Amino acid sequence: MMRVLDLILKKKQGLYLTREELQFLIQGYVENRIPDYQMSAFLMAVCFAGMTGDETGHLTDVMVHSGKVLDLSDLPGIKVDKHSTGGVGDTTTLVLAPLVAAAGLRVAKLSGRGLGHTGGTLDKLESIPGLTTSVETEQFIRQVNEIGVAVAAQTGDLVPADKKLYALRDVTATVDCVPLIASSIMSKKIASGADRIVLDTKCGSGAFMKKKEDAVLLARTMVEIGEAMGRQTIALVTDMDQPLGNYIGNALEVLEAIEILTGKITGGALREVSLELGAQMLVLGEEVPDARAGRRILEDVLTSGAGARKLEQLIEAQKGNPRVVSDPSLLPQAAHREGLPSRVEGYVQAIDAEAIGRATMVLGAGRERKEDVIDPAVGLVLQKRCNESIRAGESLVTFFTNDVSRLVAARKIAESAFKIGPEPLADRPLIHEKIEGGTVASH
Ligand code: URA
Ligand code: CA
Repeated sequence: MMRVLDLILKKKQGLYLTREELQFLIQGYVENRIPDYQMSAFLMAVCFAGMTGDETGHLTDVMVHSGKVLDLSDLPGIKVDKHSTGGVGDTTTLVLAPLVAAAGLRVAKLSGRGLGHTGGTLDKLESIPGLTTSVETEQFIRQVNEIGVAVAAQTGDLVPADKKLYALRDVTATVDCVPLIASSIMSKKIASGADRIVLDTKCGSGAFMKKKEDAVLLARTMVEIGEAMGRQTIALVTDMDQPLGNYIGNALEVLEAIEILTGKITGGALREVSLELGAQMLVLGEEVPDARAGRRILEDVLTSGAGARKLEQLIEAQKGNPRVVSDPSLLPQAAHREGLPSRVEGYVQAIDAEAIGRATMVLGAGRERKEDVIDPAVGLVLQKRCNESIRAGESLVTFFTNDVSRLVAARKIAESAFKIGPEPLADRPLIHEKIEGGTVASH
């Protein structure tokens, strides 16, 4: 008979656990036969002793099978999913989903909500008046067949093991562990029905992985899991050492996506990373021979306005008001806006993305706990990015708030996020690395 105690001990000693042993642990935990305190000890042992690639793959597989797997076989073509490991001002899904769909690939995307300092795609989308992200599976598939794109909430029956484990990891300091993050993310992508996967692994001050080596290790681990499970996977390691976009907050991030899709914003990090990730999706979907060709097509659908039209169709299909695309003033608006003047002059040397995220949370843009209610209208807009010069009295950010009493705390946190020095620093690349596996047998 297998005993939980022996398995914890084995992992503590750095030994290898078999698929059957991991299955016993995960299934026992989901079915409430294994208590939180034993699972906590096991997770902490994994943090210290690690897991081999094989073990991480097996863990992912048993997590996938803890619940339902979405069947997308009614959708013709290759289903390519994309996932970011989370960050601040990361609005890539809202930019690339309409563009990639307008380029001809079907995008069936299940997304999550924001927690802590990071935003969530569902919360952003729901700031559009009327829009719903609760879409039944049948309707979800019909919508993707009809207009090529849907972005909906993950249903509760996908990867129940991850829901329980993530909640436990969150309160036992066991989140930042490569095999645990990799299995958590990949199990959800595979259960969501993806044939092939594009990963955006963030690195820098606003990411789980602060150091590039750690982000590369996480990306490589996830690519290996994907390939071992018969899903061709590509990962880009991208920079999150400052917020990706300039607009942080739910309706504000929708606004930034709209301004990119309608050509009002013609450059910048958010647009660039979205186009690169979208190009990788088109490659994996076999719509184009290489990323350069993908990039050209995406720029064409952007310039022609086809991407903006696709966003309108997506909003309309999910019961939102599509007129927000041509008239963004229909998005929720904050009652007050106010700048944050710099006390000193010089160059912006760093913007702590996590602190910027926390400043918007103080204004009400995010949730501390799952049940917290967010204010879609509030947030901030960065007026300066890294390596830009600033004079004393010039604004670092503009706050958008419905409650001026919250500005005191927000100002303090946002100001602490900026490091200003006498000269600019070397530019960090936006895309640090691209990681691909070998070709895999189809599954
Ligand atoms: N995102 C996830 O979905 N899981 C993790 O463990 C970390 C980030
Ligand atoms: Ca096609």
